[in-house]
Amino acid sequence: MTRDATAGVPAFLAARRSIRAFTDERIDRSALDRLVEAACLAPAPHHSRPWRFVIVDSDAGKQALATGMGERWRRDLLGDGVATERVDELVTSSHRKLEGAPALVLACLTWEGLDRYPDEARGLAEWGMALLSLGAAVENLMLAAADAGLASCWVAAPIFCPAEARDALALPAEWLPHALVLVGRPDPGYEGRRRPPVPLDELRDYR
Ligand SMILES: Cc1cc2nc3c(=O)[nH]c(=O)nc-3n(C[C@H](O)[C@H](O)[C@H](O)COP(=O)(O)O)c2cc1C
Repeated sequence: MTRDATAGVPAFLAARRSIRAFTDERIDRSALDRLVEAACLAPAPHHSRPWRFVIVDSDAGKQALATGMGERWRRDLLGDGVATERVDELVTSSHRKLEGAPALVLACLTWEGLDRYPDEARGLAEWGMALLSLGAAVENLMLAAADAGLASCWVAAPIFCPAEARDALALPAEWLPHALVLVGRPDPGYEGRRRPPVPLDELRDYR
């Protein structure tokens, strides 16, 4: 059975889209703080809050973050054998994306409140739980943004270069950036991609 992606889904969930173009309007810090409060309602292991949220709304901060992550991406792409011209294009476009958003929310993980294990497997599982909860927190943040009439888009970059993102903003050593959310007022001309229908029979099973 294939159904429209939003059929039967609560409207507040369907209303959140990844929007990648914004007006120039600055976003009040109080509005950004409300988004972080919504993020902090997310479930997390052992009643912990292993997250830190860094709001980057200054030009200098956005530039530092874009440069720190961009230079690491440049090295990775060149190491992969991508042509220099293409690398320049990609890195320039990523700068534009980050510096063009009114605010960036950098979601970081810490070990605070998490259990420590003597073996690597359980340590990785614990960190995995924290990562899952960070995803839940980021979804809360984006849902709250949509509810407030703000556009948002999750950007993967920091998970590939957490140390570079952390150092670009001079964050504490134990804060490891894992997700970035662009936030602003939606550019009225931007159209989200059509959501593909949900092939329920492929994606879920009962036992
Ligand atoms: C972990 C994660 C990483 C993502 N990274 C990017 C990204 O780097 N750039 C981007 O434009 N969108 C990114 N997205 C957004 C997805 O492309 C988007 O959620 C997906 O296409 C579904 O569209 P919708 O959010 O409008 O429903 C990311 C989403 C997730 C969950």
